[in-house]
Amino acid sequence: MIAIGCDQGGFALKQIYMEYLKENGYEFEDFGSYDEKSIDYPVIAKKVCAAIQQKQCDKGILICGTGIGMSIAANKMKGIRASVCHEAFTAEITRRHNDSNVLCVGARVIGSEVALSVLKAWLTAEFEGGRHQRRVDLMTQMENEQ
Ligand code: RB5
Repeated sequence: MIAIGCDQGGFALKQIYMEYLKENGYEFEDFGSYDEKSIDYPVIAKKVCAAIQQKQCDKGILICGTGIGMSIAANKMKGIRASVCHEAFTAEITRRHNDSNVLCVGARVIGSEVALSVLKAWLTAEFEGGRHQRRVDLMTQMENEQ
């Protein structure tokens, strides 16, 4: 199950992403925002990431104007590895190497076709484990030391 959320800057792209998810058989839950009214992105990031922490969802997608505010907020949450990606290569590698569990996209940075290629790459790539697991574990350790 994928948790998805956006602020006003990401609302239109979230609609496109949800359409893609629906058409391709991915299960998802929409955590808002549900219109283009101004909303504080950390509120939505917290809801999406809490759903992952509670194991209600295993991955998340957060869309704002730049992807950056959402990623900063998401990475404050324990167990979250949020990656801002604006092309498919980093979207693939962040799954394979960082075991990214939240994809952040800036709807004002890229067009919807590139954004869809980012989503596809991120959804289909698998974590490789091995030496990358050790590095992810080191990040988890840093988080636990805070
Ligand atoms: C909202 O105007 C904008 O700040 C937000 O969408 C995002 O880009 C923040 O990082």
